[in-house]
Amino acid sequence: MIKEDKELVGRIKELKKKRNAVILAHNYQLPEVQDIADFRGDSLELSRAAAKTGAKVIVFCGVYFMAETASILSPDKLVIMPDISAGCPMANMMNAGDLRKLKEQHPQAVAVGYVNTSAEVKAELDYCCTSTNAIAVVNALSDKKEIIFVPDKYLADYVSKKSGRKLITWHGFCPTHVKILPEDVKREKKFHPKAKVMVHPECLPAVVALADAVLSTSQMAKFAKENPAKEFIVGTEAGLVYRLKQDNPDKEFYLASERAVCPNMKRTTQEKVLWALEELKDEVKVPENIRKKAHLAIERMLKII
Ligand code: 13P
Ligand code: SF4
Repeated sequence: MIKEDKELVGRIKELKKKRNAVILAHNYQLPEVQDIADFRGDSLELSRAAAKTGAKVIVFCGVYFMAETASILSPDKLVIMPDISAGCPMANMMNAGDLRKLKEQHPQAVAVGYVNTSAEVKAELDYCCTSTNAIAVVNALSDKKEIIFVPDKYLADYVSKKSGRKLITWHGFCPTHVKILPEDVKREKKFHPKAKVMVHPECLPAVVALADAVLSTSQMAKFAKENPAKEFIVGTEAGLVYRLKQDNPDKEFYLASERAVCPNMKRTTQEKVLWALEELKDEVKVPENIRKKAHLAIERMLKII
């Protein structure tokens, strides 16, 4: 727990109760935001938490596609973002028209898309997936001849290698994870030879090849807790280290690269959460025609895992 502004945190808690709100935070959020969240997690866990909550208002501390996903799953709730300008550059690398064209080029293919996509893109998908379940989703499609997998070319590469399936991909990538270079991991391994290397599948294939484990953010949290190792090299966005240290005070975590900071994930602050609760905005609402179609793709995913 970071040194907290007691008055600010007190006002957030009070208002949260009054508004019947729940605060969801992604694992990459600033420590001060993670500290006030009712729930923090990876993309899959946040989708599930959004679907289950009985609260009337969801304050989404993450990036835009995540709040859209919450709106898709909870159309009757008010979904608000403390900073609506927090987007995901990877999600913005593909629009619905791009996917429609790709589907036209491959009319026999089933379309699988990473959760890091806009609601409009999700509406064009057959299946959604997250970094936790991407391999399971592709493996569940063994009867399908062709599979489109978008937008992340590096996640696609990893899933393809693990599932043994050739995938039709897109040229998307995460600008934050590509900042982690193989030489970063090699350097940290030299400094900490006993450390286990865990990396996110959004990383470059050359980085993935150096890892002991390739995991989503919450899978990393679980791995760090359960693995007997005392030291870990962390190949993902810097924000996760706060949670890892909190959960495992007796273990050491070394960020593979200090450059791996997602500016969009750092836009949300405690003050902005308070303002969002005060003014009940900015609302993220997916239009019903898009929502229904996108919901199907997410539901199909949730049935697999
Ligand atoms: P996960 O938390 O699902 O591993 O996703 C990482 C990410 O980049 C989210 O934007
Ligand atoms: Fe998007 Fe990468 Fe930032 Fe995640 S870390 S929100 S994938 S840019």
